[in-house]
Amino acid sequence: MIPWHVAIIMDGNGRWAIKQSLPRVFGHKRGMETVKTIIQVAKSIGIKILTLYAFSTENWKRPKIEIDSLLSLLIQFLQDETSKFIKTGIRLRILGDLSKFPQYIRNELNKICKLMSKNTPHFELNIALNYGARQELVHAFKEMLKHGIDDPTEQTISSFLYTAGQPDPDLVIRTSGEFRISNFLLWQIAYSEIYVTSKLWPDFTENDLKAAISEFQKRERRFGGVNINNK
Ligand code: IPE
Ligand code: IPE
Ligand code: MG
Repeated sequence: MIPWHVAIIMDGNGRWAIKQSLPRVFGHKRGMETVKTIIQVAKSIGIKILTLYAFSTENWKRPKIEIDSLLSLLIQFLQDETSKFIKTGIRLRILGDLSKFPQYIRNELNKICKLMSKNTPHFELNIALNYGARQELVHAFKEMLKHGIDDPTEQTISSFLYTAGQPDPDLVIRTSGEFRISNFLLWQIAYSEIYVTSKLWPDFTENDLKAAISEFQKRERRFGGVNINNK
């Protein structure tokens, strides 16, 4: 049983670079290589939706030079991969508040998403960019008010999130050994399985993803119920 939706908090780029006595930016650069590998592996093993946490609403606290190079690495990556994504049936969705980005970045992201929107999605890639779960919920509530919705159900709220229409993550993976969520998908991970590995993101490999999945396969998901075998 392969998890349908896997979400990853890609953490540890900075520590990876520092371990090699390199500036943090080199960790982000190396981390992008891991992103490429993991997208292909996820797709080939049958994951249907992969959500990658790339930049949080709190990451603006970092030095401008780090933010600038992180964002340009991301844009560069998307530009480089667009044609491959189109060929291989990948659909891209950006989760987050793009209004904070300069117009040229927004245009570029819109262009890339539009090109891929014609794809029959064999695989959906979500990139969380200037994403914060609390910001997402505030945004959703404001949108509901605008639509005159004053008695929302859980389904209504889900349908106003950036992940609208997608099933919730089955598995959340966090690299670099931190046992925290850092404002990631708070609503959507209500019943996700969580897997933490001490591997730093640039060192995370195909085998590490497979290890996370095989651990997931051993978990017993009860969703608040009971195991029918223990009745
Ligand atoms: C993850 O690596 C990438 C982003 C958060 C953008 P970090 O940059 O957080 O790396 P550490 O946690 O400092 O090692
Ligand atoms: C979480 O990592 C955000 C991303 C991976 C984009 P952080 O490095 O920002 O999280 P904290 O600060 O350790 O909680
Ligand atoms: Mg970090």
